[in-house]
Amino acid sequence: MNSDTPLQLLGGLTAREFLRDYWQKKPLLVRQAFTDFENPISPDELAGLALEEEVESRIVIEHGERPWEMRRGPFEEDAFSQLPEREWTLLVQAVDQFVPEVADLLQHFRFLPSWRIDDVMISFAAPGGSVGAHFDNYDVFLLQGHGKRNWKVGQMCDSDSPLIEHADLRILANFEQSDEWTLEPGDMLYLPPRLAHYGVALDDCMTYSVGFRAPSASEVLTHFTDFLSQFLPDEDRYSDADAQPVSDPHQIQHDALDRLKKLLNEHMNDERLLLTWFGQFMTEPRYPELVAGETLEEDDLLDGLEEGAILIRNPSARMAWSEVGDDLLLFASGQSRLLPGELRDLLKLICAADALHIENLGPWMIDEQGRTLICELVKQGSLGFAADE
Ligand code: SIN
Ligand code: CO
Repeated sequence: MNSDTPLQLLGGLTAREFLRDYWQKKPLLVRQAFTDFENPISPDELAGLALEEEVESRIVIEHGERPWEMRRGPFEEDAFSQLPEREWTLLVQAVDQFVPEVADLLQHFRFLPSWRIDDVMISFAAPGGSVGAHFDNYDVFLLQGHGKRNWKVGQMCDSDSPLIEHADLRILANFEQSDEWTLEPGDMLYLPPRLAHYGVALDDCMTYSVGFRAPSASEVLTHFTDFLSQFLPDEDRYSDADAQPVSDPHQIQHDALDRLKKLLNEHMNDERLLLTWFGQFMTEPRYPELVAGETLEEDDLLDGLEEGAILIRNPSARMAWSEVGDDLLLFASGQSRLLPGELRDLLKLICAADALHIENLGPWMIDEQGRTLICELVKQGSLGFAADE
């Protein structure tokens, strides 16, 4: 995709302009980001997903006398018939992993790194339904799928912003409105992280939240140092050869700190390990139990493909690739593989293609490393055979 092509999704802005002026900075309202938007999932189907064990869902109810109740799924069949007429919202996480038509929406966001995308959450709200004024630490595109929703945006928040007291919900105690819009099907609102927002359904309403993920500094440091420490031998330690005699044995001198910084820098600046950790971390599946592999021999893979079998990416798997010198790293569902540069086009194909079959994989199946790679990805569960139609 050319980053200088005006995009309907961005109201005629190019990806470059959007990233320069809005991304992580300020909200953007796009009327008819999707023209004639066809809601890919009905409210009943969404409610059906909320009954499933492996799906994360919640219902938020705003009561007059006992405000803001939250119930966690999975729900029983009769949970919905007992809800009031108004002022409740059902929210279902990661619907893209369960409904291919919802995953297809993500094709429109290819101007952003796929490993930054978290999930597509879908909400269904009865009239007046809302989850309260709040802020998220992530970028989000709020696409109106059905009915109308009024969105108010407010101040920039942080972890010091006062919240109302609630065990499960993070609702802002103060909301300083700066703008307001009513969204209709196909309209979309982009919000940067930490911007206060408050959406209220005007009728039966479905909203799709394309959410992004960014690890916190605390997560990066904890997880990277954990990863790094696996490679460090016990004898690799603080050392002070050529130390000078001390005048006060109880004082920690600054030269000790300099040695410590040197030790840290030696390891923290290992770019290859940092990249390996980051790729693995960012491709860890949200639901690892849904990335279950199968046993497969390379000969059976080849026979299957020749007989017309189709491989598709497991919708719960995440993939990315990167360069290390002349070599490449493929990251798939939290694991990495170092591969020769000649496999570049295969890696790109694996990450991007909707389906892999003998036509697009054919040349790579002659290559031993290509064949082994595809077989390993099936065994790991990142790729799987499509069920026969
Ligand atoms: C909703 O769909 O009701 C809430 C989405 C959000 O505010 O992040
Ligand atoms: Co939000």
